Amino acid sequence: VGDDHAPGANSETAYWIAAARARESERDDRLFSDPYASVFAGALGRNALEASARASGGDNEFLVIRTRFFDDVLGDEAAWLDQVVLLGAGFDTRAYRLDLPDQLRWFEIDVPEILEEKERVLSQLGPVARCQRFAVTADISGAWGESLLDAGFSIDCRTASIAEGLLFYLSSPVVARVLAEARRLSGGGSLIGADVMGSGLLTLPSMRPSLSTRTELGLPPPFTTDDPAALFRAAGWPLVQLAFPGQLGAAYGRPFHRADQGPEPPDPTMQSYLVVGRNAR
Ligand SMILES: C[S@@+](CC[C@H](N)C(=O)[O-])C[C@H]1O[C@@H](n2cnc3c(N)ncnc32)[C@H](O)[C@@H]1O
Repeated sequence: VGDDHAPGANSETAYWIAAARARESERDDRLFSDPYASVFAGALGRNALEASARASGGDNEFLVIRTRFFDDVLGDEAAWLDQVVLLGAGFDTRAYRLDLPDQLRWFEIDVPEILEEKERVLSQLGPVARCQRFAVTADISGAWGESLLDAGFSIDCRTASIAEGLLFYLSSPVVARVLAEARRLSGGGSLIGADVMGSGLLTLPSMRPSLSTRTELGLPPPFTTDDPAALFRAAGWPLVQLAFPGQLGAAYGRPFHRADQGPEPPDPTMQSYLVVGRNAR
C-alpha cells in the first residue's frame, strides 16, 4: 500500500457529500439509506452543505441522485463482478449497506487523512462489510494502479471502477490517464462509472466561490467535458451509456434543475452527466 499524499485533493468535500447523504437518509421519500453518513459528516460536513445550498440558492439534488444511480449500477452488477474499486472513495459506505456477494473484493482508494478518519469512525460504529474490503492509500494523479496491485487487486478480472465526485477535481491529462489506467487494470466485461460536468456549468454564479478557491491554491480549473462518450471511448471504454440526473435514465422522481439555470437545460454544455463505460466481454 502506497503512502502518497495528494496535494489539492479537496478531501474536505468528502464531509460535504456525507452530509448530503445523511440528510437524504432522514427523508420519508429517501432514495437510499446511509446510516453512517451523519457521523462521517460531523459539523464540518453540515456547515459545508449549508454553505453550498446558500451559494447555489437551494439543495443540490444532484449529489443524492448520483449516489442512488451508482447504488443501482453496483447492485445490478454485483453478482457478476470479481472486484470493485472506488476511486476517491471518501466516506462511501456501500461496502456496508448494499447487498453484496461475500467473496466480492472491494478496494477503496483515497488520501491518508480520509482513510484514517474512515477507519477510526468505522471502528467506533462497528459495522461489518458485506464483502472483502481493502482500504488503499494512493494519489490518484500518480501511480495508484501499482498501489492497488500491491494491495491484492488482480488484473484481468471483471471489475467495476467507480469515480464518483472525483474527475471534477483532476486536471484534464490526469482524467485521461485515470480512465486509461482503469481500463488497463480491468478484464473483459468490466465497467467504469463516473460523473462529469459540461463546460458551461463553470459560468454559473454558484460556481464562483469554488473557482476562486482553486485559483488561490494554484490548482488547475475543474475538469469538464461536453462529449463524455468520446472521452470514455478514447480511454478504451467503447460502450458508453449516458444518464442525465433528474431526467433520462436517472429521474427517481426528483427533477434536478439548478436554481440559476431555468427549467429545461437543452444545452449540452450546461448538463451534468452520469456515465457508465464498458469494454467488450
Ligand atoms: C467529492 S469527494 C467524493 C467521495 C466519494 N466518492 C463520495 O461520493 O462520497 C472526492 C474524494 O476524492 C478524493 N481525492 C481527490 N483527489 C484525489 C487524489 N489525487 N488522490 C486520492 N484521492 C483523491 C478526496 O480525498 C475525496 O475523498
